Amino acid sequence: SGAARPRLAFLGTGYLGATYAICFAELGYEVLGFDVDEAKIAKLAGGAVPFHEPGLDELLRRNLAAGRLRFTTEYKETADFADVHFICVGTPQRADGMGADLSYVESAVTGLAQHLTRKALIVGKSTVPVGTAEWIEQLVGKHAPADLGIEVAWSPEFLQEGFAVEDVLRPNRIVIGVKSDWANAMLYASHKGVFDLAATEDREVPLVVTDFATAELVKVAANAFLATKISFINAMAEVCEVAGGDVTMLARSIGYDPRIGNRFLQAGVGFGGGCLPKDIRAFQARAQELGAGEALRFLHEVDLINLRRRTRVLQLAAELLGRRSGPAGPDLSGTRVAVLGATFKPNSDDVRDAPSLAVAALLAKAGADVHVYDPEGMENARAAQPDLTYEPSMNDAVRGADLVCVLTEWADFRNADPVALGELAAGRRVIDGRNCLDSALWTHAGWEYRGM
Ligand code: UGA
Repeated sequence: SGAARPRLAFLGTGYLGATYAICFAELGYEVLGFDVDEAKIAKLAGGAVPFHEPGLDELLRRNLAAGRLRFTTEYKETADFADVHFICVGTPQRADGMGADLSYVESAVTGLAQHLTRKALIVGKSTVPVGTAEWIEQLVGKHAPADLGIEVAWSPEFLQEGFAVEDVLRPNRIVIGVKSDWANAMLYASHKGVFDLAATEDREVPLVVTDFATAELVKVAANAFLATKISFINAMAEVCEVAGGDVTMLARSIGYDPRIGNRFLQAGVGFGGGCLPKDIRAFQARAQELGAGEALRFLHEVDLINLRRRTRVLQLAAELLGRRSGPAGPDLSGTRVAVLGATFKPNSDDVRDAPSLAVAALLAKAGADVHVYDPEGMENARAAQPDLTYEPSMNDAVRGADLVCVLTEWADFRNADPVALGELAAGRRVIDGRNCLDSALWTHAGWEYRGM
């Protein structure tokens, strides 16, 4: 049953699961979102998205009203409802090291499996170490009634925060790892809405059908490649700096070669967020376990280059403020620094592993009086770094500052008027941690400008 128009459940209504649940309802599917977190489910059921993602609130309310989308905290209801169950729970970095913590995956799969009463497909979506799909198959074998013939599949996601609705409705590819024709057909039917939408817009969405291991690896390989691209250009920035080159021009020039491409070559304070940093570490740990640690040794270097960008800002700050570095790093005591940007990238309220907040903490540790402002991330930033001072506006952060550090390239900061800010600041010194400001404009307004 259900192959024509399967009913879909998304287990874990965090960023990934909630976005998918809402967008697949929008595509016309009957959808149920499940989470163990009652507060989160109550919020979603009440029409409020518990995180910041452009366009999602409206889709949530529309599909709740249309009756295509519901939410629950009951495994039994989920098991009874859906033909296809997508596992979207978090896989955080393990506290004891670099690998991924699969305990949420385990509880979602076992909780669901116990309540299944008919044939269904369980599809992994969370970012996991290769081999997890096989492990889930064993878990299902242990916990679901054997005669139901429950099957497992894998289908990674490639959402970027800030563009997630588009990325679900109009993905640039769909990858599925399956073991049977039935699973293949069910997953095709589960994505038919995506293919149909593409057809009406005269586009095509490539579909890759492969094995479990490849489907799992596609995700981490893609993120490893993106992280490498960013660290590559940041390494070039280090060389440009000592050689007197301009990394922005360099990036633009190499990017004209379509084999290289011009995207994801923005040098600056480096990558952060809930995905790239954690994924490259977990990928290395898994490769090591499998005996291929050497193959991914370069990712360690990618990580180091990235972290070096953060200490580079601290060095630049000391230089600009005329402070010498001792063996314990620079002493910035008695200085006031404005940090503009707390999120890991613009158009997001996410501060997980944000380079901006990490730099703010380094500056504070060096003795500076740090005043932070971010257009969307204040609440999360305050929870993550309660010891910093938070200001209600850009002007309040800049007022009285000896140095301004722009560390997230929000449009508000890119378009800020350096003349007006110069009147508020105590000293006209600016570090452009994202190479996003018009340096000529700032210099003209009397600022001592340093890019990355
Ligand atoms: C990333 C991937 O881009 C998605 O394809 C993937 O699905 C997602 O992780 C995931 O695994 O869930 P996201 O974390 O939303 O998406 O953020 P990105 O837009 O990739 O940015 C990551 C970081 O790299 C940000 O801190 C950004 O400022 C930085 N970055 C990006 C640069 O420093 N330079 C660039 O040129 C591009």
